[in-house]
Amino acid sequence: MLSTRVKFLKESATLKINAMVNRLKSEGKDIYNLTAGEPDFAPPEEAKQAVINAVAKNLSKYTPTPGIAELRELIAKKTNVQQPALASHPWKPADVVVTNGGKQAIFDAILCLIDRGDEVIIPAPYWLSYPEMVKAAEGVTKVIQTDFSQHYKMTPKQLNAAITSKTKMLIINSPSNPTGALYSREEQKAIGEVLEAHPHVWILSDEIYDRIEFKVGSWSSFLQVNPSLRERTITVNGLSKSGAMTGWRIGWSVTPDSLTPALIALQGHSTSGICSLSQAAAVAALKAPSELFETQRLQYLHRRNLALEVLRKSAKIKVVEPEGAFYLFVDVQDALEENQNADGFAEKLLQEIQVAVVSGVDFGAPTCLRISFATDEKTLLEACSRLVEFCNRTTERLR
Ligand SMILES: Cc1ncc(COP(=O)(O)O)c(C=O)c1O
Repeated sequence: MLSTRVKFLKESATLKINAMVNRLKSEGKDIYNLTAGEPDFAPPEEAKQAVINAVAKNLSKYTPTPGIAELRELIAKKTNVQQPALASHPWKPADVVVTNGGKQAIFDAILCLIDRGDEVIIPAPYWLSYPEMVKAAEGVTKVIQTDFSQHYKMTPKQLNAAITSKTKMLIINSPSNPTGALYSREEQKAIGEVLEAHPHVWILSDEIYDRIEFKVGSWSSFLQVNPSLRERTITVNGLSKSGAMTGWRIGWSVTPDSLTPALIALQGHSTSGICSLSQAAAVAALKAPSELFETQRLQYLHRRNLALEVLRKSAKIKVVEPEGAFYLFVDVQDALEENQNADGFAEKLLQEIQVAVVSGVDFGAPTCLRISFATDEKTLLEACSRLVEFCNRTTERLR
């Protein structure tokens, strides 16, 4: 009955684990939950007030499909600030499409560019929605496998080897969900040089965690490093993560003239413009002083360091220091039982030590776990200590 397009879509791994968490909670168990894919902070006061004012002013009508003018202008400005290398050909408000979260921006770009059989290169570990979106567009995902030893970043050589005449798009995500990896300027430049030689390949740069970098100035926007790729790069961003507004669904894409009208047409016939109240919030958040976000960044950094210190106490946990976002990605291969993958391991953690983490299986890393530190310190520390103790007991358990 179902179309081939959706028949093979997978349920999200986070939803699966959260269903188990809720069941255990309803049985009265205390769970140390490190599965959050969203900040535990409140949105900026300015944004909250803007929503209240918008309600009072009856801002309840349809808005233009690609977003209200003031918001598109602010987004173009933000992008131009992050991409000064494009100063001779900066982005205009008309290049911006405001979407229901970064997710819709990515999905619409894929739908507008990918035909049946087109290949999309996705480095693994990846955000689990990318391959499912490619599937829905009847495209073919080509995974580039990266691992702990390369800090979960693809090399230019791997990228070059993966490109074929059918490649239509590369998706790059820095800082990354789930690994926290951040590509340096030099690394992005080397990737850009490979892409220079393949003019048929589009680049989707998912920059949704842009403000959450742990070394100030380490992050840069893909186009800032590779301005010559402007005419085939989609920059995706939003306020879900760095603005702590996941539920208000504010994302966007900034795209060249060859793509933007198609994105607007698609959105015009699907969701239309996003909620008028959320757009008011987004305007206020983009005008808010940047110190607001700096407080959150420092909190994440502090928690990252606390968790790392604990996790390093087990030789069975291989952990790379994340450079951005709010995730730690740990390889627990040495703690797995025979024929067990991270799904089974995560389930066991939940049942035996009441720690909830997301299995790496759906992120393309079957021996890894994603630990979110978007939670309070007490929960984070207790959960990490339990995990360490559990892994250190592995030899006993396996005996
Ligand atoms: C890498 C990445 N891209 C995009 C998104 C989508 O964000 P939004 O909630 O704005 O749709 C997420 C959310 O988890 C993400 O982790």
